[in-house]
Amino acid sequence: MSAAVTAGVVLLGATGRTGGRVLTQLLERGVGVRAIVRSAERLPPGAVADPRLTVVEANLASMPAEALRRHVEGRSSVISCLGHTVSLRGVFGPPRDLVEGAVRAVCDAATSLRPETPLRLILMSSVSVNRPARADVRRGAGERAFVAVLRALLPPARDNQRAADALASEVGAEHPFVEWVVVRPDSLTDGDQTAYQTHEGLVASLFRPDTTRMANVAHFMVDLATDEAAWRRWRGQMPVIVDGAPGRRA
Ligand SMILES: NC(=O)c1ccc[n+]([C@@H]2O[C@H](COP(=O)([O-])OP(=O)(O)OC[C@H]3O[C@@H](n4cnc5c(N)ncnc54)[C@H](OP(=O)(O)O)[C@@H]3O)[C@@H](O)[C@H]2O)c1
Repeated sequence: MSAAVTAGVVLLGATGRTGGRVLTQLLERGVGVRAIVRSAERLPPGAVADPRLTVVEANLASMPAEALRRHVEGRSSVISCLGHTVSLRGVFGPPRDLVEGAVRAVCDAATSLRPETPLRLILMSSVSVNRPARADVRRGAGERAFVAVLRALLPPARDNQRAADALASEVGAEHPFVEWVVVRPDSLTDGDQTAYQTHEGLVASLFRPDTTRMANVAHFMVDLATDEAAWRRWRGQMPVIVDGAPGRRA
């Protein structure tokens, strides 16, 4: 078991569809978790009684910096599975910068804590998010235009891109106190964990999407938090994850 495991994880979005699976898998692997949630009632029922779970009921968007700092202190990783609720209010209402704000707040907490080993921030994102400097060469002109319209019309799409940009452009690869991975699944589906593939860049068009089981996203995110080799392979990158046996296209 690596040092990353023993120091525990702060989990954001643990009441969500993917976040709940991340929580369950972390606990199954014996990892201590501090979940910051708006309502503990929405946590997976099986997880609540686990002694390795500490629940903080609070609104992250209005949490004072000092409080977040305390929750992050001594933890090796923060995993975010935050996402805007699929409702008119969730999509268009405040906080429009839910994900970006959380990323910035976590980075500020780490910067002020100055941990000996950089805090690992693992962010759930989407294939609609671009890598910087047009590194995702598969995106054609039509698709780029479509994504631009999406971001203009839908605050959550803009929020996801800005959160990833903040990590890639502002935190970068050499930050002394924060390292990060932005995980980009395709269309999320239910179902048990299966074989899956991870790629440095996009593998499917937004118009002909692949599927990514949430259980697979959870497995990959938990690997990143607990497996040193997985972390070294992907830190500072934005891997795309899709279902299917490695080496074969899904
Ligand atoms: N849908 C797709 O096919 C797809 C594909 C690729 C990527 N993604 C991305 O994946 C991420 C997670 O998706 P998901 O479907 O697993 O998410 P989800 O089930 O909608 O869960 C969202 C989580 O964010 C929390 N949250 C929402 N608004 C909040 C607020 N104002 N303050 C604090 N917490 C808040 C929710 O807490 P509550 O329980 O308190 O509401 C919940 O824990 C999203 O960023 C999404 O864009 C989605």
